[in-house]
Amino acid sequence: MTHPHRGILITFEGCDGGGKTTQLRLLAERLKQTKRAFLALREPGGTDIGETVRSILLQKKHASLCAEAELLLFEAARAQLVHEIIRPALNEGKVVLCDRFMDSTTAYQGSGRHLSLKAIDVLNAFATGDVCPNMTFLLDVPPKVSRQRVLQRTFNDLDRMEGEELNFYERVREGYLRLAEAHSERIIVVDACRDKEVIADFIWEKVHGILING
Ligand code: TYD
Repeated sequence: MTHPHRGILITFEGCDGGGKTTQLRLLAERLKQTKRAFLALREPGGTDIGETVRSILLQKKHASLCAEAELLLFEAARAQLVHEIIRPALNEGKVVLCDRFMDSTTAYQGSGRHLSLKAIDVLNAFATGDVCPNMTFLLDVPPKVSRQRVLQRTFNDLDRMEGEELNFYERVREGYLRLAEAHSERIIVVDACRDKEVIADFIWEKVHGILING
């Protein structure tokens, strides 16, 4: 896929509790030291409309939300974020960091919920208008480890997605690893069991490479 805009889109992916959000923050701190304009976003959310959709998606009281509606809501939040923020920022030449993007839908709704991967590819392309990440870090961690981290972080108060069974997360992880194999030109698998500073250095080396080489 081509990248006609001047900016750079970097996404962070992986199962809940893999440390994406921490790594995004550490990368943002390093980017602050450079002169390059950047912004940090999250999915679902990042816009007023997207945050409203996020609360529909994550509230436990919406347990009856069907998989198809869930998929469309994630795509709706994404379309709004791309339209309102990501595309304009890329057109201005900014670096955009996003905590989750279209690969989350392939892994969670495709591999996790068994929805059609073909339909998801079409919907991802529709929602993003073919805006594709230049680089994606997949923070890979065994589901048992990530589960433990999520339980500690939330004090057992899990949201609708986090309440899924362990084998759902096994499928999501496998889906992510298959995606990484299929898109090795942009997806970098990071062993998220390592020390967070070691991971941050590794990520910075890769990002610095694309900042220098355009
Ligand atoms: P969030 O609290 O942002 O989780 P995390 O910190 O792990 O990223 O909640 C987002 C949840 O939504 C998370 O469980 C992953 C899920 N999700 C999907 O199932 N499909 C998607 O397309 C996206 C963007 C997220």
